[in-house]
Amino acid sequence: MFNSLAAQPPDALLGVMAAYAADKSPQKLDLGVGVYRDSNGVTPVMAAVSKAESELLARQTTKAYVGAGGNRAFAAVIEEMTLGAGHPARSAGRVVTLQTPGGCGALRLAAELLMRATGGVRVLASDPTWPNHGPLISGAGLTIEDYPYYDSSGALSFDAMVDTLERLPSGAVVLLQASCHNPTGADLSAAQWRVLAELLGRRGLVPLLDLAYQGLADGLDADAAAARLLAAELPELLIAVSCSKNFGLYRERVGAIIAVARNAPAAQILMSHLQALARRMYSMPPDHGAAIVATIAANPALRGEWLAELESMRLRIGTIRTRLALALKTATGSARFDFIAAQRGMFSLLGLGAGAVESLKDQHHVYVAPDGRINIAGLPEVHNERRAAAIHAVAGERTTLTRADGQRV
Ligand code: LMR
Repeated sequence: MFNSLAAQPPDALLGVMAAYAADKSPQKLDLGVGVYRDSNGVTPVMAAVSKAESELLARQTTKAYVGAGGNRAFAAVIEEMTLGAGHPARSAGRVVTLQTPGGCGALRLAAELLMRATGGVRVLASDPTWPNHGPLISGAGLTIEDYPYYDSSGALSFDAMVDTLERLPSGAVVLLQASCHNPTGADLSAAQWRVLAELLGRRGLVPLLDLAYQGLADGLDADAAAARLLAAELPELLIAVSCSKNFGLYRERVGAIIAVARNAPAAQILMSHLQALARRMYSMPPDHGAAIVATIAANPALRGEWLAELESMRLRIGTIRTRLALALKTATGSARFDFIAAQRGMFSLLGLGAGAVESLKDQHHVYVAPDGRINIAGLPEVHNERRAAAIHAVAGERTTLTRADGQRV
């Protein structure tokens, strides 16, 4: 039966993880996959998470099914964390939230819902975007295209983005990243989000907002500002939430899809479809990570501890950005990499071509994503002069970018 299948190419980013693991050099540095690392190079279990796990172990009396909607206490926590306690869309009953297996599960469920509702709507994502957006969306049978976003010198192409969105037919779906844009690190400003909200409303476009890094750009509430604005201004909105980064729960696969509908009855209909879609894809999400998040949120001491740890992660990323930009300025004698200090979150695109990415790996044991994206949070705060010199040594070639459909341009 399976003889017709040819081997699939390995996932490019997971390939970087494997190559790093196989490298025996003590100098090696993994700036590939997007996981936060502390100054010891470790992706820690957050202290509040450990304590919540112990509490759960002590008090949990059952492992019975949670249902297709997942952990309801978790869903309420995420909805409030994303939209805020008194958001008018919530007060109007326009919002429903379903726990998903990670942010990927939320994106895939959103794509399935869009497919079911429209039979094949156009979806546009930023150029470039996270390479897994394309497969997650097209896996549901939708086509994914690009809108201009970034000009590879570190600046946003906002005018070109607006120009493209203005010409879309009503009902098209625009995939946006709320903060810490992956892979560029270049986020829209508050004023640009307002322009976008007006445009989306006037043109009848539906946003699918990817919120995977809440708390790692400007703070927990600030990073949710786009979600809150769009939910207030627009009749319909889907939000894919991930707790991988801000709770450090990567392997627990904890996320949620938030659907904002025209009115309360429409929201309940969306919830029924989301539950039915979840049931036929994976039945129910895993509970453990969601129960951890709900436990932290319900305990003021644990919540305070988690917030403090998240804030220290955010600040550390900012410090590394500043120091790396400075080291690169010194190494290159130019302002070419100054944008790194002004960007947000875990990623920046270095503007390195494929050859430079290979040279960084082969000559310097520095592993970055194939598109030249570096995980800022993987850098130690110190000794970045050496890394800057390595980047400078290979930085002659300009980058190629990954479009939403997975093509490199
Ligand atoms: C990343 O972009 O590195 C992370 O979101 C991990 C992943 O699944 O690609």
